[in-house]
Amino acid sequence: MSDQNTFKKNAAAAAMRYIEDGMLVGVGTGSTTNYFIDMLAEKRDSIRGAISSSGATEDRLKKNGIPVMTLADGDPDVYVDGADRFNNLKQLIKGGGGALTGEKIVASVSRKFICIADETKREVRLGTSFPLPIAVIPAARSSVARQILAMGGNPVYRNGFMTDNGNVILDIHDLAFDEPIAMEQKLNNIPGIVCNGIFALHAADVVLIGNAAGADVLA
Ligand code: A5P
Repeated sequence: MSDQNTFKKNAAAAAMRYIEDGMLVGVGTGSTTNYFIDMLAEKRDSIRGAISSSGATEDRLKKNGIPVMTLADGDPDVYVDGADRFNNLKQLIKGGGGALTGEKIVASVSRKFICIADETKREVRLGTSFPLPIAVIPAARSSVARQILAMGGNPVYRNGFMTDNGNVILDIHDLAFDEPIAMEQKLNNIPGIVCNGIFALHAADVVLIGNAAGADVLA
């Protein structure tokens, strides 16, 4: 296993300490979360169930025999998900896998948001080393792209990719920002953007930073 995969697995293992009997567990998407899902299988008979953030995660939960529920069943006690980048304020960039809309919905109503990420994903200024994904209604792709260009960003269409909700993804390069909450709100106000990958209005409560020795806690 590569070092980075070991770090991801260590972060996932640390998240298991937050899972208690009877909990409704929100589950994110991605390779780090996949390690968590496989570990969660050991507790499938003691938790109340899991709420998925994407089709891919739902498939993996079911393969592991974990009961899948929906937000109609209630708000998750805890939400566990990876990130593409995080900063010292536990604000995140997510959406590298394209599941940002479902992830933000489940994260927003969960009582505690545990982010699991390896140490390579830490950065001081979000937007510096990873492009910001936005999910866009297909008909608005060009109009949104022009508004992003006017903001100084460089939107790149994620070719051949469609989200679970039938939207397209633009990955915005060259748009580093100092005020993640303000940028998240600004992007939310552009018609045609369904969701942007900044998780700052509702940041993580805890980031478990996987490394060679285990996981550091940023709380
Ligand atoms: C999915 O859309 C993303 O938000 C993922 O949570 C993020 O890309 C982290 O993925 P990895 O755990 O695979 O790095």
